[in-house]
Amino acid sequence: MCGITGYIGYRDAYPIVMNGLKRLEYRGYDSSGIMMFDGKNILLSKTKGKVSDLEAITENEKERKVGQIGIGHTRWATHGVPNDINSHPHTSQSGNLVVVHNGIIENYDTLRKELISRGYVFKSDTDTEVLINLIEEVKKNEQCMLGKAVQLALNNVIGAYAIAVFDQTKPDEIIVARLGSPIAIGIGKENSEFFIASDASPFIEYTKNAIYLEDEELAIIKVGRDIKVRKIKDDIRVDANIQKLKLSLDQIEKGGYDNFMLKEIHEQPKAIIDTYRGRMLADQGIIRMSGIDDHINKFLNADRIIIIACGTSWHAGLVGEYLIEDKARIPVEVEYASEFRYRNPVITSRDVVIAISQSGETADTLAAIKLAKSKGAFVFGICNVVGSSIARETHAGAYTHAGPEIGVASTKAFTTQITVLTLIALKLASKKGEISKSELRAFMQEMKLIPKKIETLLKIDDKVKEIAAVYKDAKNCLYLGRGFNFPVALEGALKLKEISYIHAEGYPAAEMKHGPIALIDENMPIFVIATNKGHYEKVVSNIQEIKSRSGKIIAIVTEGDTQVKEIADHVIEIPETEEALAPLLTTIPFQLLSYHIAVMLNKNVDQPRNLAKSVTVE
Ligand code: M6R
Repeated sequence: MCGITGYIGYRDAYPIVMNGLKRLEYRGYDSSGIMMFDGKNILLSKTKGKVSDLEAITENEKERKVGQIGIGHTRWATHGVPNDINSHPHTSQSGNLVVVHNGIIENYDTLRKELISRGYVFKSDTDTEVLINLIEEVKKNEQCMLGKAVQLALNNVIGAYAIAVFDQTKPDEIIVARLGSPIAIGIGKENSEFFIASDASPFIEYTKNAIYLEDEELAIIKVGRDIKVRKIKDDIRVDANIQKLKLSLDQIEKGGYDNFMLKEIHEQPKAIIDTYRGRMLADQGIIRMSGIDDHINKFLNADRIIIIACGTSWHAGLVGEYLIEDKARIPVEVEYASEFRYRNPVITSRDVVIAISQSGETADTLAAIKLAKSKGAFVFGICNVVGSSIARETHAGAYTHAGPEIGVASTKAFTTQITVLTLIALKLASKKGEISKSELRAFMQEMKLIPKKIETLLKIDDKVKEIAAVYKDAKNCLYLGRGFNFPVALEGALKLKEISYIHAEGYPAAEMKHGPIALIDENMPIFVIATNKGHYEKVVSNIQEIKSRSGKIIAIVTEGDTQVKEIADHVIEIPETEEALAPLLTTIPFQLLSYHIAVMLNKNVDQPRNLAKSVTVE
């Protein structure tokens, strides 16, 4: 995980690198650091804590900010606890070479021992310091340029990396390389300046031209010259593919909200419209998705669809399973990517795999895709980040057009992933003749109403806040749902856990009596989804079971409900909709609830402890 950023050119590098770190902080935030080169000397500033702590250190010390070359890092610790010494950048033994690194060097222990035997002394516990000393050793032994030394060193490395390396004895270039962790290079006018970052957000106001390095590529960045890209193993030159970025600055700023999570919750109506726009032609009863249209026979002839994902994306995948099986009658399995990749699964060329990932960089999902491809399966990606590794690794795909999601807790990614999965289910259903044209039209008309219904729902914020105030000190919570709303219960529990640090479990409502019911007493809040379609009477019985054990019930019901209102301690009403579309609505109160509880508990909503936005380590 970790975020890396850098600048080389004619402007002051400090504000560019520092602002870049702030934008990348979602990737890791247990420590950070910056290297500035003032034309003669390297100056390192590093500290445990947030980027704001780093800024506080450098703020009043002018000399720490001088120079037109800088690299920075915001860390999510893998090797070595978060402290000042383990923070990046790391320098080589001579002090000449500096590196920032996102990834893991798996054979670092062997390499470290080897380097110690050659006289290297290590200051930190990190794998990254091993890497920079390895580069120094290679450079010394081979008497070669930095680019070559980095390349040769990386050939001895097992693991994942995105790195930026600087050599103060040759201060006109920065070398970057990638395997498994993302890195983008922004190109200034006529190559007068270059920006380096884990994603394009740090340099979006400076340039729209960028290169995303592919795995096993290394780039030599020199001011005034074209970027040279080489394959690390094969040592061949490759053409750099310069892309035009579409991201805008206001898309990545908070836009008046207190934090990104709240902004992103409120963006959902628009994000859902953006996701189905141009794809769902409701009046004509047509769904247009080129990624599916171009490969329709793969889907129609598939023995089964396997959905792979992690975390919230996995929950969306579960909704996808219910949707595709219900509407298109194609068997679906949903797998945690991390399990799938290591459990020797049976996959054939008659399987279609759908990989879901907001970031498009999740290491486990990426590895699972590669495994599925190696067995001949057709892999379709659902990603939010355009040009991400997963988007490029899959055979075809569909983007969720949610816009940048910065808050670590996924919100709009979830609802837009469900939107894409709904379109896929409908498309396949109509191709298979499982749904009539008029049914399809009616369903799509209802889907078009969802953004408005979410807008209405977002207005109940005050009510959710009142409920949050009552339950904010709970130690444990249960979330229950059935059918399409079961994955929403899982997602509700995950949201609460990750930003409030309150233990919460999601369960299918009927499973409660097989174990979790033992937990219920007067201190246990239980959030139950009891909307009018989808086993309503059964869920009401489950609620009765809870009530008779004194549990506190907070129920999500359909507008106009009377039955649950009489039994529950609190009810939150949602607008009426199709059963299969309910997750798009029922998830909203849970997002707001976890948000308010976290705020009331004084937690950092956007950057919860121990987490990172994109999990690029396995
Ligand atoms: O970027 P991805 O969708 O692949 O990320 C998967 C999970 O890491 C992610 O959904 C995580 O669970 C979120 N923090 C949930 O809010």
